Amino acid sequence: MSLGTLLRGWRERALLTQEQLAQRADLNVRTVRRLENRGLQQPRTTSILLLAEALGLDGEERAVLAAAARGPSAERVDPAVAVPRQLPAGAAVFVGREHERTALEDTATVAAIDGMAGVGKTALAVHAAHRLAPRFPDGQVFVNLHGHTRGMTPVDPGDALARVLRAFDVPGERIPEHVDDRAAMYRGVVAERRVLIVLDDAADEDQVRPLLPAGRGCRLIVTSRRRLIGLDDTRTLSLDVLPTPEAVALFTRTAGQEHAVDAGVVTETVERCGRLPLAVRIAAVRLRARPAWSVRHLLDRLNDDRLAELTAGGHSVAAALDLSYQRLSEEQRRVYRLLGSYAGAEFRVEEAAVALDTTVVRARRLLDQLLDVHLLQEPAPGRFRFHALVRDHVLALPHGTWGDVAGPF
Ligand SMILES: Nc1ncnc2c1ncn2[C@@H]1O[C@H](COP(=O)(O)OP(=O)(O)OP(=O)(O)O)[C@@H](O)[C@H]1O
Ligand SMILES: [Mg+2]
Repeated sequence: MSLGTLLRGWRERALLTQEQLAQRADLNVRTVRRLENRGLQQPRTTSILLLAEALGLDGEERAVLAAAARGPSAERVDPAVAVPRQLPAGAAVFVGREHERTALEDTATVAAIDGMAGVGKTALAVHAAHRLAPRFPDGQVFVNLHGHTRGMTPVDPGDALARVLRAFDVPGERIPEHVDDRAAMYRGVVAERRVLIVLDDAADEDQVRPLLPAGRGCRLIVTSRRRLIGLDDTRTLSLDVLPTPEAVALFTRTAGQEHAVDAGVVTETVERCGRLPLAVRIAAVRLRARPAWSVRHLLDRLNDDRLAELTAGGHSVAAALDLSYQRLSEEQRRVYRLLGSYAGAEFRVEEAAVALDTTVVRARRLLDQLLDVHLLQEPAPGRFRFHALVRDHVLALPHGTWGDVAGPF
């Protein structure tokens, strides 16, 4: 159906005159008239979006309208519309994650990457996005949702939507007030386009949901320290720390190949870093910055005070873990402090219940909450443990915060 016929039909359905529609859409009445009479060959995308809003079209109708506006011969989107290219540069050194990379390339629409602080979620998402970019010629959008950034609260979904709309050249004054209207406009903009969207560091599902695209041509990659189990049709990838050979490769390729000769000491060093990419990278960067040091010297320092050593150039393992801790409820913090300092390296839910002075059922629920935010691990069913660096973090918490741990849960 032609654009003019569609517009006239929907305008009449909404019981609007051409003048009323023009007023609602904040457009010139001549534009509306010419669109209906097919006099305007190349309508602006923003005009089409505004008309869709004013006519109260749903997602499917918007897609039909967008297709009609492009015309039968148009192969691609309106060239007047911006094509955002927002991906940050990928890591200079990228190791491993073959399985996850393949999974991301094969995922149909939405993929969520979760894992503990510094495990490499953003690095993987950005690396995969660069490889996928040629398949999404209508744009690549990157939004940091700041789920865990010092001094910042997580980004409001409405603000995130506005940023994406502006990236597609929708002028600020045309962006609707209400988050639902923004989400509808967003879905209209990305419908029928091949757009890749990366949402980095989401706090939870509610922050992501309004940004889920409707069209099949879009791909969304979300990263989060939390398992986003509440999103429909989403492929979830949980990242673990690196296997030893990959951790060694990350270390030597960052610190300098000359250190590879100390293979045994390098292996011990990456193990001491818990094979956490953030820790391995920081250790390697420190070694590179200190030409007088040997790997042995670095390892000795790590054996003295691991967390204090693992900070460089504004990055710090302790600070990263602390942001996860800050996001816990008071009750979860007590569980974290009590169990994190618990002597047993691995423990069962029954032991946790005794330590927490509560029932097994309740202890299981409390453990689940820490598992969901990756502050706790479950290496085998029913067996729990904290990552070595997480335990260090618990033990380094200021003692003033320990006073209130007593008492049942
Ligand atoms: N596969 C990898 N190859 C090389 N470097 C990596 C890899 N994974 C992570 N890194 C490096 O480790 C550091 C931490 O990774 P990244 O920032 O991706 O972690 P994250 O899981 O997103 O952490 P956060 O939860 O704090 O956002 C970065 O410097 C990153 O470049
Ligand atoms: Mg990240």
